[in-house]
Amino acid sequence: MSVIISFDLGTTSCRAIAFDTNAKILAQAQQASQLSFPQADWVEQDGEEIWQQQLAVFEQLLAELKLSPDDILAIGITNQRESCLIWDKATGQALTPVISWQDKRTQAECRKIRETNKSDWIKRKTGLIPDAYFSATKLAWLLDNDESLRQRADNNQVAFGTLDSWLVWKMSQGKQHITDVSNASRTMLFNIESLEWDHELLSFFNIPKSILPSVVDSSGQLANFEYQGSQIPICGIAGDQQAALFGQACFDSGQAKNTYGTGCFLLANIGSELKFSQHNLLTTLAWRFNGETYYAFEGSVFIAGAAIEWLINKLDVIASTNEIQALITQAKPSSEVVFVPAFVGLGAPYWQSNAKAAVFGLGLDDGKAELTKACIESLALQSKDLLDAMISDLGSNLTLLNIDGGAVRNKYLVQFQADILANTQVKVTTEIELTAIGAAYLAGLGCGLWQQDQLRVFNQASEKQTYTTNMTEEKRQSVLSNWRKAIDALRLWAGE
Ligand code: G3P
Repeated sequence: MSVIISFDLGTTSCRAIAFDTNAKILAQAQQASQLSFPQADWVEQDGEEIWQQQLAVFEQLLAELKLSPDDILAIGITNQRESCLIWDKATGQALTPVISWQDKRTQAECRKIRETNKSDWIKRKTGLIPDAYFSATKLAWLLDNDESLRQRADNNQVAFGTLDSWLVWKMSQGKQHITDVSNASRTMLFNIESLEWDHELLSFFNIPKSILPSVVDSSGQLANFEYQGSQIPICGIAGDQQAALFGQACFDSGQAKNTYGTGCFLLANIGSELKFSQHNLLTTLAWRFNGETYYAFEGSVFIAGAAIEWLINKLDVIASTNEIQALITQAKPSSEVVFVPAFVGLGAPYWQSNAKAAVFGLGLDDGKAELTKACIESLALQSKDLLDAMISDLGSNLTLLNIDGGAVRNKYLVQFQADILANTQVKVTTEIELTAIGAAYLAGLGCGLWQQDQLRVFNQASEKQTYTTNMTEEKRQSVLSNWRKAIDALRLWAGE
């Protein structure tokens, strides 16, 4: 048997997924990853544990499909972005926790950067808006808060990386210290025009260049996984959102996708010419291979699926996601509850890191059904804010939005999204693992198994369902106006 395997290292799970040579999923193995919250606004993970889990799910997959390493044509890696750590170059042991992309410990530093008018300077170089979300201030914090680590960094004894980099280091037994362009573009240290680490930014954040990985393409012969005496080629690497854009075959400028994972991320391919958003979206590197670089506009919202997890784990109003659909049908249609799940601040297009989650419009007769419905609706409403900004930046309507990620299993969410978007149809693929598919596509291209045109054919052959609006204009305007009032009130409360 010949397979392509994707390693999908998300925020809440590590997965390994095997694809046949027609890009169809054969099997997958998964383990839940642990997040820890040592202090308010801090979110960490354990790098060693993540690596052990990734290895375990890989071995589970091999056992399930009775595969030997020789059956694997290539591996594609896709990962939660921005989260990063530092490890020892000699022993390969993690020296710090993984500071998660959701961690806000550096928000005061980021506010200072914005107040000293450095935002434009940073945006022109990186496409990003200074925020604790990106890796640069996380890395600076790690070095600034541990003198011996700083010293070891200055002596070139430690390595820094996002999680793609960490996995490749472990898989190659310390022979490769690399990251791909899409992940590099999320650090706030990478110049997205010159495609190099930016010397001025490195000196601004006081980061020694020697600890950074080499930046490579997203597809090609990138590294090898040394496993039980075999060398398995790693031929694809991309941040999870860029991978989903690729998995949706959004290869051409103007094509867009929205992924509901822990957060919600709307990306539109803008082609190979660098452009900047005028509406608070990011410019990010989509991918680079065969000498061609593609950029994307991105709207990032920090909480989507995580809001549903909160209803389950913290509020205890539902026991599992299986209850949601039934509960929503019990909600009073007249309910005007609005839930803004800004638990870790507001991302695009507002960028207000002080914000916290809030619920508006509760009546005495509202209960868990109405709150759950408002939570699901909030995912689509946040995405609508991103789409409006995207349409303004692109200068033309987006008639179609591809959506994916775990939450699209919820039919109410998908229909509600189509209802409030009105002029943009929503398309859902039956197979929702577009992130892993994107990594498999990049790996299959990189090892020479597939050509890009074949990927379009795979995508077209996949089963899809298109949703169009079913809501009156009056109702739509009322829903959107309630949402707007809630966002305005929350921004006022956050007062940044
Ligand atoms: O930028 C953060 C993003 O990569 C996290 O993705 O899938 O864990 O929501 P996800």
